[in-house]
Amino acid sequence: MNVALILAAGKGVRFDSSFPKQFVQLNDKSILEYSLDIVEELEGVEMTVLVIEPTYEKKFREITSQYKKRIELCPGGFSRQQSVYKGLKKIKENFKITETINVLIHDSARPFARTVFYNVLEKLKTEEAVVPVIKTKDTMYVIEGQKVIDSPCRERLFHVQTPQGFSFNGIFDCHKIADEKDMRAFTDDGSLYLKVEKRQPAIANGDQKNFKITDKKDLLLAEYYLSQNISS
Ligand code: CTP
Ligand code: MG
Repeated sequence: MNVALILAAGKGVRFDSSFPKQFVQLNDKSILEYSLDIVEELEGVEMTVLVIEPTYEKKFREITSQYKKRIELCPGGFSRQQSVYKGLKKIKENFKITETINVLIHDSARPFARTVFYNVLEKLKTEEAVVPVIKTKDTMYVIEGQKVIDSPCRERLFHVQTPQGFSFNGIFDCHKIADEKDMRAFTDDGSLYLKVEKRQPAIANGDQKNFKITDKKDLLLAEYYLSQNISS
């Protein structure tokens, strides 16, 4: 069984609007609804745990009431990492994890994720941890203070996306250990798995369209993709 864990508990500080970016309209629906629509249609994903910012619970309930597949709401934490861990605990409370459960952890700030959901689900049939990536186009530097201290070979550098897929028990244990050891700086789950579990996640093809809406310029790009029918 596959469960989607969709993160929507962020405040969208860099987006700089009066309400969190997941509620911002993108054509005819909110950014959040793009991800919920994908999961609603996705065969093999039975339900969603949606991690929310509790101040907006009413709004979340209004949005989720339109879906047929089961969606459980769960309050988020101060960081993305904490929100994921709370969502995982919610899954553990709600289900007897006797059968094999996979979890697809996804940022609701990525509305065009359909292709990548397929790619990750496919790989999860044979792998315990799957992270979608795309090649870096720019040359990248490591800078500390004002000093360039390294220029890693571009061929080895990749952008990391979501959804990231894991066998439930594996990623739950990693988050538990990270929490106990006060390791709190992870911005995605693949790197937490790598550092805590010391095991390498498999990679799947990401998709350039599956970018994360972070600031207002990204919204313009998303609108352009939709206008050209090249979203997914
Ligand atoms: N997220 C979350 N809980 C948090 C922080 C982030 O569930 N405490 C979610 C966001 O809702 C988003 C995803 O994690 O879907 C990726 O985070 P990001 O793009 O950084 O979103 P925000 O944290 O909302 O934005 P900002 O960092 O600009 O405040
Ligand atoms: Mg953030």
